[in-house]
Amino acid sequence: MKTTIVVVDNLSTNKSSYTQAVDLLTKGELVAFPTETVYGLGAIATCEEAVAKIFEAKGRPQDNPLIVHIGSKEEIKAFTHDIPKLAEMCMDMFWPGPLTLILPLKTDTLAKNVTAGLQTVGVRIPEHTVALELLRLLKQPVAAPSANKSGKPSPTKAAHVYHDLEGKIPLILDGGTTGIGLESTVIDFVSEIPTILRPGGVTKEMLEKVIGQVREAKPTDHEEAPRAPGMKYAHYAPDSPVYLIEASIVKLQEAVEKIHSEQKKVAIIASESFNQVKVDYFFSLGKKNELNDAAHLLYQALRDCDETDVDIILVPVLSTEGVGTAIMNRLEKASNGKWYIG
Ligand code: TXA
Ligand code: MG
Repeated sequence: MKTTIVVVDNLSTNKSSYTQAVDLLTKGELVAFPTETVYGLGAIATCEEAVAKIFEAKGRPQDNPLIVHIGSKEEIKAFTHDIPKLAEMCMDMFWPGPLTLILPLKTDTLAKNVTAGLQTVGVRIPEHTVALELLRLLKQPVAAPSANKSGKPSPTKAAHVYHDLEGKIPLILDGGTTGIGLESTVIDFVSEIPTILRPGGVTKEMLEKVIGQVREAKPTDHEEAPRAPGMKYAHYAPDSPVYLIEASIVKLQEAVEKIHSEQKKVAIIASESFNQVKVDYFFSLGKKNELNDAAHLLYQALRDCDETDVDIILVPVLSTEGVGTAIMNRLEKASNGKWYIG
């Protein structure tokens, strides 16, 4: 299959590109599109065969459910029920935006593979002109995970989608680099106390201002179903191993020298304040303490490592303030929790 990339500007003037995307989706084909977080790989959420193509193209485990994207709040009534008051408050406050709500699923509405057979569904309205225009024209819910090969960092550019899925999908709508750069916050409203299953751009503090107490699912919460099934799989991993390390120039320089003495090459992914460390490759996360910039640049940096001959990737840990929680969550996964100890 030939994969076409069409550039759509944010003014939604590119009518024929949208028509092409809507036609493909309606026919049960896949279309990748930008959102404010990362690029999504969309299929009509009521069509089981179309949704099956998502799992196939990504190589995604069948038990990992997909997020459903809608263009307006009214659309959720068609496939959810008993929406808690607190969930309504979050929708009013944060939609359109990077917040996915897990809600009770109305039976026999969406294709079963969207929710991997669960009785709940994750849903959000993305805050991106291209995504919203597509959803508005289509008038149907779209199941869309991040448009990367399963296990790789999510795509923040159309070129990343092309790299991972070329030949497997017919169309990529190119809306430029995505703004936030990390996936949406996933919050579960089916558990007694609203629980963050995946941290993202909407932080715990922001949520608690609106709805009061919010829990954070810990990787050790084995008994506390339901958790995001996706949490158990390897994620965001470059080809070479990633190690976390203390945020100290001295510690980094020592680590690099040790690794060099083993005839191995090292990359560092860090804020510019670390760029004086003598290393084989340095990928910047922007200015020191600018966590939004770090979120925006992280997946590109992880992907850049795959274009080098590096053996080991070191990442000095970042603050867990605000969006830092989400950044460190992704880095914990990319590193599989490994620290460099020399
Ligand atoms: O920002 C985003 O959320 C992007 C854009 C494209 O919208 N999408 C995205 O989807 O990151 P994906 O499939 O890569 O991540 C979805 C996460 C997974 O961890 C999945 O397990 C969880 O949400 N999830 C989806 N439905 C769920 C459900 N019913 N219950 C618990 N977790 C669910
Ligand atoms: Mg994903």
